[in-house]
Parts: sequence; C-alpha cells; structure tokens
Amino acid sequence: MSRSGKDPGERLKTAKKRSASSARWLTRQINDPYVKRAAADGYRSRAAYKLAELDERFGFLKHARAVVDLGIAPGGWSQVVAQQRPGARIVGIDLLPVDPLPGVTIFEMDFMADEAPERLSEALGGPPDLVLSDMAANTVGHKQTDHLRTMGLVEAAADFAVSTLSPGGAFVAKVLAGGTDKDLLALLKRHFATVKHAKPPASRKGSSEWYVVAQGFKGRAEPADE
Ligand SMILES: C[S@@+](CC[C@H](N)C(=O)[O-])C[C@H]1O[C@@H](n2cnc3c(N)ncnc32)[C@H](O)[C@@H]1O
Repeated sequence: MSRSGKDPGERLKTAKKRSASSARWLTRQINDPYVKRAAADGYRSRAAYKLAELDERFGFLKHARAVVDLGIAPGGWSQVVAQQRPGARIVGIDLLPVDPLPGVTIFEMDFMADEAPERLSEALGGPPDLVLSDMAANTVGHKQTDHLRTMGLVEAAADFAVSTLSPGGAFVAKVLAGGTDKDLLALLKRHFATVKHAKPPASRKGSSEWYVVAQGFKGRAEPADE
C-alpha cells in the first residue's frame, strides 16, 4: 500500500483504463468527418451540425427572432442560429466559460440556480420564440443517476420554455434514449401543437442522446397547474 492508502496496482489499472478510453476518444475525434467539417466551417463544435440537421427537418429556425441557448458552450448552436437568423437576439447560459460570440449575450452560471431564468428573460428583453437546450449532466458512471440528472435538466428547460415562450414558439432539447419521460411528454403535448423525437445523423450512433422537438406553443391560457 502507498501512503495514500491506495494499492499502486489499482492506480496503474485505473490509469491504464483512463488512457485507453482517452486513446479511443482521440482516434474517434481524428476519424470523425463532422469534427473535420466543423474545423473547416469555423464551427466551435460538431454539435452545430446536430442543430442544423434538426432544423432542416423541422424548420424551427425560420421564424426565430429571440432565442435562448441552454448549455451554450462552446457555442456551436448559437453560431448556427446567428448565421441563419442574422439580427436575432440570442442569450445563452453555461456552467463553463464561453469565448464571446458577436451578437450573443452569455451568462456563465448554473441554469438550475434560482435567479437564472429571470436573468435570461431580462437579457432577452421579451419572450423567446425558441428555447434550445443541449444541456447534459456530467456523467458519474452510475446509469440511473446519470439518467435522472440529465432528465432533471430537461424538465427545468421545459418548465422555462412553457413559462416564457411566445405563442407559436418552439422548444428543442436533448433527451436520453427512451425519449422523454411520461410526465414531461404529457406537459409538452398539452402545450405544443406537435411533439416529435429525432436523432440527427450528426449524433453518434452509439450515444444515448436523442432530441425532442416541440413546435407550435399554444400559450399560457390554461391555469398554471404544473
Ligand atoms: C453538449 S454541450 C453543449 C454544446 C453546444 N450545444 C454547442 O453546440 O457548442 C452541453 C453543455 O451543457 C452544460 N451544462 C450542463 N449542466 C448545466 C447547467 N446546470 N447549467 C448550465 N449549463 C449546463 C455543460 O457545461 C456543457 O457545456
């Protein structure tokens, strides 16, 4: 045993495991055509293509003038929005710092903080017509915990969307395989004309991520019972 109380053999195994997974990640990055395209096209992330592909299929960017980007770092989605909707107001938030993006207001804070929704709404200066969420919780390796943490973020994003969107608006969010959970799906179906799930081609086949696309926000005429 070492002074840290850890068996050196254990440490070596963990380090080996970690370097094997880093090597796999690196090989995947090097061979990934979307990573190459993103570098050539000047996008900060390959995730940019996921939003572009979802938009090609669903067309939610066409009328977007006020957009909230939850989990904005490093900024690929907002780059796509700014490119396709020049002049749109865009406000983003992330736990991580984000290099400035022209025309985008960025908050470095936890979206789950009590004051976050108000800060976003204030910065936008009016109701959004598109709420995007690509937020994912950092995985801890325990499948159920990871699932619950990510679904918690999606639920908070959906609550924000239904309490701020202007009528006709849209909500697009990353969910996990198996789609949106029953209560969340019911909430979205109640408030939006259409709710669809999709896995864009740029989303890696092996990954458990899917996206929910809810369009045609019906407004807040109903009593706020959720
Ligand atoms: C997959 S990345 C987003 C990529 C981004 N859509 C792009 O195109 O560049 C997910 C982001 O969600 C952020 N995130 C996770 N939990 C968050 C929280 N509670 N508040 C704000 N951001 C969060 C992470 O820090 C991470 O940067």
